[in-house]
Amino acid sequence: MKFVTIVGARPQFIKCAAVSRVLRKKHTEILVHTGQHYDYGMSEVFFKELDIPTPDYNLGIGSGSHGHQTGAMLAAIEDILIHEEPDMLLVYGDTNSTVAGALAAAKLHIPVVHVEAGLRSFDRRMPEEINRVITDHLSGILFCPTLTAVRNLKSEGIVDGVYHVGDVMTDAVLFNRQRAEKQSRILDEAGLLPKNYVTATIHRPSNTDSADNMRAILAAFGSCGKTVVFPIHPRTRKYLHEYNLTVPESVILTDPLGYLDMLQVMANAERIITDSGGIQKEAYLLRVPCVTLRENTEWIETLDGGWNILIHSASTSEITKALTEPRHPDSWIPVFGEGGGAENIVECLEKQEKTSLSA
Ligand code: UD1
Repeated sequence: MKFVTIVGARPQFIKCAAVSRVLRKKHTEILVHTGQHYDYGMSEVFFKELDIPTPDYNLGIGSGSHGHQTGAMLAAIEDILIHEEPDMLLVYGDTNSTVAGALAAAKLHIPVVHVEAGLRSFDRRMPEEINRVITDHLSGILFCPTLTAVRNLKSEGIVDGVYHVGDVMTDAVLFNRQRAEKQSRILDEAGLLPKNYVTATIHRPSNTDSADNMRAILAAFGSCGKTVVFPIHPRTRKYLHEYNLTVPESVILTDPLGYLDMLQVMANAERIITDSGGIQKEAYLLRVPCVTLRENTEWIETLDGGWNILIHSASTSEITKALTEPRHPDSWIPVFGEGGGAENIVECLEKQEKTSLSA
């Protein structure tokens, strides 16, 4: 079979690496990078570390408003699909690259395969929630990482073509954990001792686009009494500069990290604080207690057993408390599967009849 796969942002490179490795054993994959993430540390480093083949097309679309970015992707992906005539289109997660790919293919009657389908935060203020809902409703095959995702789809009337296959980010963590341990020098380089620091990432507009919120978050990092290693997303760096905020001395600010270094700083952290969806899940997989600076989460399973807690407002005292109070999560179950998600996906795709898939 011939697939066109669309990727564009960091988490998609990680998921695609896991699936492509299996898919390419028997099938043809044309890889399209929209260019949504384009800095070396946000893009190329992942291709190198995770042995992802060089994209067949790099659209170089870059940043922009949602409409401009998604619209430019839609037009360019349509041309590629017409030229390549794939049997199916593969998209991952919930970014603007995901929804652009799904829409282009659906209009051309090319079956859409959505990996990481069915996730819902039930918060339409998040652009990702809109992308998820639209992509799921355009897809003919929906690969769900959890049973919650299957239920979410059912409640929207989507039952055909839905498969619970496990989570491909789990495959990535299992495949790369030992490699990270061997290859990453990040702990030595940053002078970090295992279980003696906090790892932080912040990039959501709900946090970054408010000077007050960013000030409150940084103040909490400074007052929690722990070293905080903070690999910073370019948008967050831009806003810190714009708001003229001072970073507390106990915070180690780094450029965005590659996947292996990031795995290593997460796995050895005493605690993780984030507003990313993927990192909440990686924290759970690595069994590191997590604090999430959001009102809701699409990964509700991470809240079970106290592994993850949500902080609804950017309040210095609440965040400081969440970073300092003792946390002893009491149970851990492999709710995201135990690996093998990519194999399940490819096996399932091989069983499909092209004609029965049109959305
Ligand atoms: C995107 C996804 C988000 C995902 C995240 C992973 C959407 C709507 N959001 O958010 O779901 O969690 O990727 O990291 O698709 N920038 C650079 N260099 C880059 C990339 C971005 O400087 O290589 C800066 C630009 O100022 C840009 C801003 O970051 O305007 C935001 O980038 P964008 O791709 O729009 O969204 P993300 O916040 O990265």
